[in-house]
Amino acid sequence: MSDAVVEVSAVFDTILVLDFGSQYSHLITRRLREFNVYAEMLPCTQKISELSWKPAGIILSGGPYSVYLEGSPHVDHDIFKLNVPILGICYGMQELAWINGKGVARGEKREYGPATLNVEDASCPLFKDVDHSKVWMSHGDKLHALPTGFKIVATSENSPFAAIAHETDSIFGIQFHPEVTHTEKGKQLLRNFAIDICKAQNNWTMENFIDTEIARIQKLVGPTAEVIGAVSGGVDSTVGAKIMHEAIGDRFHAIYVDNGVMRLNETEQVYKTLTEGLGINLTVVDASDLFLGRLKGVTDPEKKRKIIGNTFINVFEEEAAKIKPASGQEIEFLLQGTLYPDVIESISFKGPSQTIKTHHNVGGLLDNMKLKLIEPLRELFKDEVRHLGELMGVPHDLVWRHPFPGPGLAIRVLGEVTPAQVKIAREADAIFIAEIKAAGLYKQISQAFAALLPVRSVGVMGDQRTYEQVIALRAITTVDFMTADWFEFDYSFLKRVASRIVNEVDGVARVTYDITSKPPATVEWE
Ligand code: XMP
Repeated sequence: MSDAVVEVSAVFDTILVLDFGSQYSHLITRRLREFNVYAEMLPCTQKISELSWKPAGIILSGGPYSVYLEGSPHVDHDIFKLNVPILGICYGMQELAWINGKGVARGEKREYGPATLNVEDASCPLFKDVDHSKVWMSHGDKLHALPTGFKIVATSENSPFAAIAHETDSIFGIQFHPEVTHTEKGKQLLRNFAIDICKAQNNWTMENFIDTEIARIQKLVGPTAEVIGAVSGGVDSTVGAKIMHEAIGDRFHAIYVDNGVMRLNETEQVYKTLTEGLGINLTVVDASDLFLGRLKGVTDPEKKRKIIGNTFINVFEEEAAKIKPASGQEIEFLLQGTLYPDVIESISFKGPSQTIKTHHNVGGLLDNMKLKLIEPLRELFKDEVRHLGELMGVPHDLVWRHPFPGPGLAIRVLGEVTPAQVKIAREADAIFIAEIKAAGLYKQISQAFAALLPVRSVGVMGDQRTYEQVIALRAITTVDFMTADWFEFDYSFLKRVASRIVNEVDGVARVTYDITSKPPATVEWE
């Protein structure tokens, strides 16, 4: 549970999604928020008596288990005592049936794919404007009898119990998945549930969130305490810093560490944007010599990562110790840019035998510094952070910037990282990104960069034979960075970029374009 003194879920009407481990569970939360209803996901094992807020409604997700098998997860029956509407999806529906008569068994065959929904009871409010639409089925178990007290409200060719509803209470079960985009009217159905049936207010907007979150931070930090946080120039840390600044002004101290492997002009840009543009109290530390010194002679990617991570912690702690708050108080809090997907990852239900993972973005800092954590973005998805950034005046280019790895160009200079090698990678990267922006392609691409390969290749420049290095360009599209496709540029675009890099960057004789997807390759080369 969050560090919050006031839970966001206590302020906004909240639909509680209890997760039984389906790969689609987080999409339920996602869809509800798309029509401005706040939703929060907790593991299906959540004890209702331990909730500090009352949900407006409850959704039981799908899951990979069979309700009738020993060891399968079951929901706390206190959900029924809350007297709020309940919707069971797939396993969630089978769980409702199991509790009310046990009529669940393995189907003759697994049903996977589209089906057409026939609504048999047009008066059911869940199905307003949903009849005869395509729905997505993905289940092995099915109901073979109607649970006690329930009636059929919709069928499909293979599912006589495609949807059921309680005769008197607001309890519904559906066999299909409304959260996936293959279900044509899935969002409408979730909307019917959340807004019409649960009467949840659709007031979850970033405009409203700003005020709530600023008030929450002010209450948590109190009138005098001080907060520090690392900023990288990326959207999450910048938006986090901006919201802290709005809440507590100069009692928030941002620290930016120049590790010597940042992109071209990055440090200057970050300084300008955060101080002049956003008014944030920022210290820039030039630690490039220290980082590059420690990286000398190191070629193993994992060693590079470790050196950069540890050096970052050393520098950050040293700088933090130099900050002497005017109040005379010690610094009490550390800002961390945790986003909701990290939270979901740490709380989603992975099965009875698996322990639930904890998450730390800047592993190591907290343990050493004995600081309390403050996470203003922990309720937000990435697109919500971007929207918030735009609303708070963070420059558009920064809000939409591609992600950049913590170890920076050190994992894009393959082999040993030297200042000369970093310079080549940096200049090639700047040309590639500038051309992508000039061609209007930046937003279509999820991440693009130049990597410097540790090989030499023969070339010819004028009448001279050259023997210089190779740049590999990489541009990918992805939703979640777990899988990725390479971006299909026009040949003329690639020709222009290659020509500019070879002509303008000393030390490069050849340019290649990486056409490997992930998997089997990764996004980064190291
Ligand atoms: P890979 O190379 O694993 O990259 O396919 C997926 C995403 O993660 C980023 N990445 C990192 N980010 N520290 C980071 O903060 C790292 O060590 C790291 N390695 C990869 C990569 O840029 C891509 O967005």
